[in-house]
Amino acid sequence: MTFVEPGAPGQLAAAVREGFAASYGAPAAVVGRAPGRVNLIGEHTDYNAGLVLPLALPHATYAAVALREDDRVRIGSRQKPQPWVATLDTIGPGQTDGWAAYVAGVLWALREAGWQTPGVDVYVDGTVPLGAGLSSSAALECSFAVALATLLGKDLTQAGRRTLIEACIRAETEVAGAPTGGMDQTVSMLAEPNAALLIDFDLQTAGPVALRLPEHGLAVLVTDTRVSHALTDGGYAARRADCEAAAAALGVASLRHAGIAEVESQLTNDRVRRRARHIVTEIDRVAETVEAIRAGDWLSVGSLFLASHVSMRDDFEISCAELDLAVETALGAGAIGARMTGGGFGGSAIALVPLDRIDGVAGAIDAAFIAAGFRPPNHLLGEPSAAADVVTENGLSRSS
Ligand code: GLA
Repeated sequence: MTFVEPGAPGQLAAAVREGFAASYGAPAAVVGRAPGRVNLIGEHTDYNAGLVLPLALPHATYAAVALREDDRVRIGSRQKPQPWVATLDTIGPGQTDGWAAYVAGVLWALREAGWQTPGVDVYVDGTVPLGAGLSSSAALECSFAVALATLLGKDLTQAGRRTLIEACIRAETEVAGAPTGGMDQTVSMLAEPNAALLIDFDLQTAGPVALRLPEHGLAVLVTDTRVSHALTDGGYAARRADCEAAAAALGVASLRHAGIAEVESQLTNDRVRRRARHIVTEIDRVAETVEAIRAGDWLSVGSLFLASHVSMRDDFEISCAELDLAVETALGAGAIGARMTGGGFGGSAIALVPLDRIDGVAGAIDAAFIAAGFRPPNHLLGEPSAAADVVTENGLSRSS
């Protein structure tokens, strides 16, 4: 069984400081840390002005950053120490690709928002599994954004963080070219420990929902199927287009404002109707999940997870054989609920597991994968953690 550990923030920050100094021959000025996320429920609802309920993982990306005196931009990582190099005027939509676009894109977006910044040197590493649907890209964007904001003397209050969220979303959608919806950057910037974050993309509000998982004897087991997906492939954009077609056919600004009765009776295209059915019912499931969590009724949460999975498998069609197997096996081995999570087409599944069944459930999933001829998956524990912040020398985030 392979469990991916989050690592100790102090040690990971020290390691990127060392990598920075080795790459650039000078010390970093600050280290930003931003978490990956796992979504409890509410999938593909963010770009439909709906509700989502993600939590920040303890697994995070760390970005060591220093301002330069000229307009050069150098971005390196432990995986690619030879830095990507550009100048400020050459970064932006259509000009930047590859992984460095997630950092350079934030710099571009903040300059578009009116920030005066010189060039920067950046060195990153982290423990968010890549390509696992756990928002390593948002973690990368947000780790750099909090570091840069701190270096420029900007505040990291809620209002300051909103500016950073917008910039990170623009980096992802306009520079990296992934037409995503904003959940990942929002939770990475606004999450609170021991809670999920209920985000309402219609009202533009976000607030914590206390989870108290250990009190209820439960853990969130995340299983990375290691089937990789890319949000820049066509499946995500095609789902988004179907949702927009459904809203247009119903004459509403977004599916948030559509009811299930109109979806069933007025949408004549079968595929578009099924996509809309998923969104409309999923938004209701998020609200019901929040109520059930507040009531301490985790068995109902488990049932809502399963209903969500079935809806994504059959109506939204974003699951795959590995995700379905992880979900079915987790339920058979003692999980009280399970579903695929994130954008789909691979990535991760989550299961709500009694604490004494964690190894049993993870082991059962591994065995089922081997029996099916799939690569053994990775697991991690989704302990709800803090939002992005800078890491001080002693390893604690500044605002904690
Ligand atoms: C990806 C996107 C998010 C969201 C989810 C699906 O993670 O980045 O914006 O749409 O898929 O819920």
